[in-house]
Amino acid sequence: MPFNQEFNKVEEHYSRQDLESVILEALTAAGRDIDNLKAEDLAPFDEFHIRGRKATLELARELGFEAGSQVLDVGCGIGGPSRSLALEYGCHVTGLDLSEEYCRVAKMLAGRLGLESQVSYIHGNALDMPFADASFDFLWTQHASMNIADKEKLYSEMWRVLKHGGKLAIYEIVEGEGGMVYYPSPWAREPSISFLISPRQMQNTLESAGFEILSFRDTTETGRSWFRHLGEKIRGEGAPPLGIHLLLGADFRIMAQNQVRNLEEDRIALIEAVVQRPW
Ligand SMILES: C[S@@+](CC[C@H](N)C(=O)[O-])C[C@H]1O[C@@H](n2cnc3c(N)ncnc32)[C@H](O)[C@@H]1O
Repeated sequence: MPFNQEFNKVEEHYSRQDLESVILEALTAAGRDIDNLKAEDLAPFDEFHIRGRKATLELARELGFEAGSQVLDVGCGIGGPSRSLALEYGCHVTGLDLSEEYCRVAKMLAGRLGLESQVSYIHGNALDMPFADASFDFLWTQHASMNIADKEKLYSEMWRVLKHGGKLAIYEIVEGEGGMVYYPSPWAREPSISFLISPRQMQNTLESAGFEILSFRDTTETGRSWFRHLGEKIRGEGAPPLGIHLLLGADFRIMAQNQVRNLEEDRIALIEAVVQRPW
């Protein structure tokens, strides 16, 4: 599917040649049986957001998922969160992502976990979603809006595809009060594909799109503590063989260092929110 230049640059940022073999080789080298994979084997790298699976399961508890709920994960990455939700709640999750390669890898990993009937992945743009109005019971999005300039369109598209009374869960990186962001960062190697807004702007844009805010909290300090703990672990035991570096490649280290500096210096903040399309 052809995207415009801005979106091509985002897709390029998230593309890594031969990601499928990079992942399977790393799993094998780490002693995992790739013909008998479990969700825990993938957890160190398949949830591409701060605090990984823990953050996903915590936020999910606020939503009221049921077996059979229809969920859309916008900017699903390689699909870790969608598989976690499907396994934990028995819901059906559709993942939408701008990266064709991530969709391919997501599908491959879902197949290896035997989840083909519960999750599916579609290559597409969050600003022009290939779904009918009111298609989903729940929407889910984590660490994806930072790459999307037109937040009005993003939230109005989300509102459109959500059923009346449906809830949208958001976990995003937003602008902090400490000044300019350091790049390269995990979501952008340079500023031209980074579009952070303040928490206040996020809240206003969601309300203008028609959402009712059910919860809206700053979890920056929790993210900072998680990174401090991870840093101590790595200093003691060395870098783990499985991690987000598999997705980001050679310049991962500087991106990770900048992520920590951006958080510690209040240049970015973390917001977790649940909002609802009114009945
Ligand atoms: C940091 S990753 C997070 C992936 C996933 N949400 C997770 O937490 O594991 C950001 C993802 O958002 C996707 N993305 C960015 N802009 C997008 C857009 N306009 N439409 C769909 N996906 C987009 C990227 O391709 C990437 O996979």
